Amino acid sequence: MTNAELVLEAKKARQRAYTPYSKHSVGAALVTKDGKIYHGCNIENAAYGPTNCAERTAFFRAVYEGEREFAKIAIVGGMEGTDGNEPCAPCGVCRQVMMEFCNPKTFQIIMAVDKKTYKIMTLEELHEKLSFLYNENVETHISFYATTPTTSLCLFNIENQFLDELKKMFIEEIKEVTDNQSPNFTLEN
Ligand code: THU
Repeated sequence: MTNAELVLEAKKARQRAYTPYSKHSVGAALVTKDGKIYHGCNIENAAYGPTNCAERTAFFRAVYEGEREFAKIAIVGGMEGTDGNEPCAPCGVCRQVMMEFCNPKTFQIIMAVDKKTYKIMTLEELHEKLSFLYNENVETHISFYATTPTTSLCLFNIENQFLDELKKMFIEEIKEVTDNQSPNFTLEN
């Protein structure tokens, strides 16, 4: 299966998302080392905390089925009802789940806008990119929200004295990722 096909699988999975609160629906397609695909969508909850991201849904379905070795995951996300996706980076909780089962140097994360435009980073590369949010003053949960501009904006209503600063840093960082997307984005016909 090509990466473009995998992105289409993630798009299919996105249709199953349950997102009455954020309206930000996400789909994921996870591939095992022997080529099996597991789909996942985000499933929200009124209490926010129990919300499960698309990536974890895919991982937990796969692990339940006995899988332990994974090659890559494609992710698509965006506001409900729109076909347009934003590059959607897995949150800190999902990255931690990936760490449990994947080699960070080789596991590939395909963050797709559409089947022709997507950014691929290894788990390690992505983690380095997002870990700028960690420091001794900041609770690590803030970096869990290091996803897309839309996502971060809907989640940034947590009160925190460092929040404004973080928000600025985060938005600049994401801008940098999306503005510089051309050299990093892969185009496939
Ligand atoms: N979400 C995912 O499912 N995966 C991501 O990579 C980013 C965030 C979900 C969580 C929540 O339901 C919604 O998107 C807004 O944050």
